[in-house]
Amino acid sequence: MLRTHTCGELRETHAGKAVSLCGWVHSRRDHGGLIFIDLRDRYGLTQIVFHPEKDKALFAAAEALRPEWVIKVDGVVTKRAAGAENDAMDTGAIELAVSVCSVLNKAKTPPFEIDSDADVNEELRLQYRYLDLRRSRMRRNIELRSKIFQIIRSYFTAQGCLEIDTPCLIKGTPEGAREYLVPSRIYPGTFFVLPQSPQQLKQLCMVAGLDRYFQIARCFRDEDLRGDRQPEFLQLDFEMSFVTQEDVQTIIEGSLLEILKHCSTKQLKGGKVGRYTWREVMDRYGSDKPDLRYDLPITDISQSVSGCGFKVFEEALAAGGTVRVLRVPGGAALTRSEIDVWTALAKEMKAKGLAYILFKEDGPSSPLLKFFKDGFLQTLQELTGAQTGDALFFAADTFTIACASLAKVRGEAAKRFSLIDTSVHAMFWVTNFPMFEEQDDGSLTFSHHPFTSPNIDEWPRRKTDPLSVHSVCYDLVLDGYELGSGSIRIHDSVLQQEVFEMLGISREDQEKRFGHMLKAFEYGAPPHGGFAYGIDRVVMLMAGEPNIREVTPFPKDQKAKDLLMGAPAPMPAAQVAELGIQLIKKA
Ligand code: AMO
Ligand code: AMP
Repeated sequence: MLRTHTCGELRETHAGKAVSLCGWVHSRRDHGGLIFIDLRDRYGLTQIVFHPEKDKALFAAAEALRPEWVIKVDGVVTKRAAGAENDAMDTGAIELAVSVCSVLNKAKTPPFEIDSDADVNEELRLQYRYLDLRRSRMRRNIELRSKIFQIIRSYFTAQGCLEIDTPCLIKGTPEGAREYLVPSRIYPGTFFVLPQSPQQLKQLCMVAGLDRYFQIARCFRDEDLRGDRQPEFLQLDFEMSFVTQEDVQTIIEGSLLEILKHCSTKQLKGGKVGRYTWREVMDRYGSDKPDLRYDLPITDISQSVSGCGFKVFEEALAAGGTVRVLRVPGGAALTRSEIDVWTALAKEMKAKGLAYILFKEDGPSSPLLKFFKDGFLQTLQELTGAQTGDALFFAADTFTIACASLAKVRGEAAKRFSLIDTSVHAMFWVTNFPMFEEQDDGSLTFSHHPFTSPNIDEWPRRKTDPLSVHSVCYDLVLDGYELGSGSIRIHDSVLQQEVFEMLGISREDQEKRFGHMLKAFEYGAPPHGGFAYGIDRVVMLMAGEPNIREVTPFPKDQKAKDLLMGAPAPMPAAQVAELGIQLIKKA
């Protein structure tokens, strides 16, 4: 070892000891003829001191040191003089009187300061990620990430799970996102697909009788990025045999409570993990992943709008839609331009507008009032409990659009009026999802993935009323983020074929894409179910970071680029040709 201790280790009890430290020059202060340097490594900072009168050459060497140079120092640990201690530093009771200093490596001036947590342009941070990771905020996040890996590994191992790795070069698993393709050289014209998740492989592990599986699995999805999405990310992936939904939920919940216990100082709101059906959260909050650190419910007023006088409401209802309203306490204080911003947000969710009423001190104010029949305003107040000072925001649309637009407004209102209780976590299950969703062209798609079991009692009505069939699928939500999803799976090849059929996948395509699953189910597949949660999202929420790039060691940027290595990048023509691939120019 080049060092006897780390930079975070020395305490008063080490006073008088001769030690060696290695690290980076973090900061330097020249003071009354002395040079003080904070020497940094992963473990902390130690103040080292150079005295001019002791050794002229050594002092001259110290004067030449620059930020981020890598040095090794030998010296004696000295208790700091009374009053010179630094309580903010773990090693603040001592300093090192340096007798030998060797420069292990010099450094260019970094493009941003390592010794401050000040905001730095993200592009620059990602280009120089190895410098960014030296900063204390990033170091803490990486430490937390590692700790969460350890908790997950020991928890699931203690649950009797085998940690089983699955390949990344596979045939795709459709989960809704576009897939990353890997061309095969040996079989030109064919491709591997990078897994969106190990869904099929973990199910095959169950067919193999491995009973309980977990993996910290790398997943790849070529989708539009957001703060909580990366093109590649990690899942805690879990599967078990001979279980019900509740069994899976209990084990998954236990792992997250363990993570919360060790990684968060906040309590669970209500003292427990909540449970709602999909319909309940959609009706009350407009979203299947509402942030329940605040309530702010939506009210369905569809039953009361017929004959109300406002055409927009009446027509929405006549078209089979719904009219919903959000009461925002204190909302009467919103300015016109704030309401315009919220209206634009509702329109982003495909709403046609965002009707509103402000209950001001001098009476209600709204462009709608002139349309309302007598008594309707009062009905609205009774239904919503709106009082002076409040505002009401309306969505008159299809169920999906009305929910989505008011959920958006609900989120904005919570921020605008500081309604989010950031001293707690709100975690809950959402169950009883619809099995299918209707796409814009009227065809059906799966709402989870095509291996999810429908509610068997409802399955017979799949042909007459497919949208009313629910699945045995469950999501876990934390502080407004979807942490994970899971389901009880189909283990019967006939049922699996029926589901594929409903999804409009022809027998031929089923065979081509999923023949291996259908075949496996014919060899004694046990009933099974599982779950996966996004580890990056968990770390983000535990770290209190605003996006998952902050907790991912080497993330892609918001345009799916790796700015550090410069990927994706063109490849030599010969290498591309070897794959049997010819490039065409895209406009
Ligand atoms: P699902 O597709 O819902 O389920 O994914 C599970 C969880 O993975 C995380 N996640 C992501 N995290 C970061 N970046 C992304 N692009 C991204 N996409 C998803 C989320 C999400 O809740 N195979 C099923 C699980 C199962 O049924 O067992 C699956 O992958 O936190
Ligand atoms: P209009 O009659 O189109 O001028 O709209 C009157 C008010 O109703 C405006 O504030 C619109 O933003 C709002 N509005 C229009 N369509 C809808 C709708 N489908 N849902 C909710 N509000 C709407």
